[in-house]
Amino acid sequence: MEASAPAKAILFGEHAVVYGKPAIAVSLDRRMTIIVKPGKESRVDGGRLTVRKHRYVRWVMENLWDGPPLEFRTRSDIPSASGLGSSAALCSSVVSALSYLKGPGGEETNARNSFEVEYNVQGGASPTDTSCSTHGHGILVSFEPGEGLLWSISKKNRTWYIHHIDPPGLTMVVGYTKKPSITPVQVEKVRSYYDRSGFARETIEEIGELVFDALAAMKKGDTVELGALMDSNHSLLSILGVSSRELNKLRDAASPYSYGAKMTGAGGGGSIIALTDRPEDVCRAIKKRGGVPYIVSRSTRGAEVRVTDEERFVNFNKENTGEKG
Ligand code: MEV
Repeated sequence: MEASAPAKAILFGEHAVVYGKPAIAVSLDRRMTIIVKPGKESRVDGGRLTVRKHRYVRWVMENLWDGPPLEFRTRSDIPSASGLGSSAALCSSVVSALSYLKGPGGEETNARNSFEVEYNVQGGASPTDTSCSTHGHGILVSFEPGEGLLWSISKKNRTWYIHHIDPPGLTMVVGYTKKPSITPVQVEKVRSYYDRSGFARETIEEIGELVFDALAAMKKGDTVELGALMDSNHSLLSILGVSSRELNKLRDAASPYSYGAKMTGAGGGGSIIALTDRPEDVCRAIKKRGGVPYIVSRSTRGAEVRVTDEERFVNFNKENTGEKG
């Protein structure tokens, strides 16, 4: 069988969402695809599962799967550690495939399990990336239920409410710095700042407020306001210390041709995202400053599973399946 899940871009609210503040994310038209078949031992792209290279798949196989060994082949047009959710797309596609093997799994269960994988492997996360990748479209993550509620996910004493939103069809350009963004490192950096500084906590509050302004601007279709809010969000993330020289360089390159631009995802490295109606100019400017540009648009497609060999699938199901948890 084949399963796939989309990349995501956080338009507003990364990091603050870890502290229960709202965030807006959209899924993108770039995907991670996995091909799954029975094997003699579990492997990923021909190699045995190792802690270092296959942390996510290994966690799934150890904690959510009781069946026989499986071989995975991966194919992706989401650059890894780029801030575009390649690990969430991997979690979501593997979880969706395995839950389908057990019997058609629901989107909510898959989002929940994908979050568990990311949370446990990364040692902490919000459900933003995994819910966005599982659901597709756009999502608003909020601290209370509202219109378009899909599901809620709780961890420790925090609950995130995930809502469906349909953001307008914006033209966006991603600029990848080629420097990896290591989410747990950046999340930990913000955590230690948050714990010792009232200023950091205020900054997180400000990001939270800005997300509601962004939601209102989206509803009005006010692209100019949205762009200005992206710029403000970038400044606040810089105060938290998660932007970098490389990210600022690409943001500055994109700005003259954009309504607004900001880092997206955990930061440190990774990518910026620019809202623009001059995508070619933004791409040229990003390239000139050493980045890799991608013109992206939002996608409505979430995680998808397709059986490619019906007979083998039926036989496999008859013989042996099982899912833990
Ligand atoms: C990473 O894509 C987004 C962060 O907010 C972490 C998270 O929400 O888990 C930085």
